[in-house]
Amino acid sequence: MAQKIVAGNWKMNLSSNEAKELMSNLNEKSFPSDVRTIVFPSSIYVDSIASTAKNTEVGVQNFSENDNGAFTGEVSIEQLRSVNVNIGLIGHSERRAYFKEGHEQLKNKVDHAIKNEFNFIFCCGEPLAIRENGDELTFVRLQLNESLFHLIKEQMMNKVIAYEPVWAIGTGKTASSDQAEEMHRNIRSWIEEKYDLETAESVSILYGGSCKPSNAKELFACKNVDGGLIGGAALKADDFNALIHSF
Ligand code: PGA
Repeated sequence: MAQKIVAGNWKMNLSSNEAKELMSNLNEKSFPSDVRTIVFPSSIYVDSIASTAKNTEVGVQNFSENDNGAFTGEVSIEQLRSVNVNIGLIGHSERRAYFKEGHEQLKNKVDHAIKNEFNFIFCCGEPLAIRENGDELTFVRLQLNESLFHLIKEQMMNKVIAYEPVWAIGTGKTASSDQAEEMHRNIRSWIEEKYDLETAESVSILYGGSCKPSNAKELFACKNVDGGLIGGAALKADDFNALIHSF
């Protein structure tokens, strides 16, 4: 059985005090023990937030595929580890679109994370025009083939994938539970095809894109939806708490 996960991507939001307040409000909540929870603050705050977090893991929204050295503006896995951060997002659609992170760079990030035993959530998802053409399965399969499915079975076991249709991110438009389930079912079947059933069943596949307390129950009830990667609704402790209780 894949691990249930609810992750909050705070993106480039919150002042230092606001981030601390959100974390301290989350610290007051009690989360079900069978749900893994993770928050992803801006990298400037991961150190202080990780040192105060009581009931969630703290991850980074982006990290370098290089070891250390002359890479201005980047953050290395070694630096993250030194502040007890052991998980990061790879390939969020905003990194792909605005920072031009392509298949090869994302593959390098995956390999760098694997080499350093750093956990990650690998994000994929199609833009609106691709969905309107009916090409979403081909598009997402290519993203996975090019940057993730080169891993061997032992590396692929228990990995986390977030399916986030770009047209649903921050737009208030959510994929219907049928649309989400169809993509998630396909992703799991591609893993089974490439690896085997054991691997496919071990991978957590999260849905992201305007997921909120009002629609999470229906989405999380889908057979192949193992939780969510949440943007806007993760900025409010009560909403994030409600999402974590939506299974
Ligand atoms: P959203 O963002 O929930 O605000 O749509 C999701 C994400 O980008 O991870």
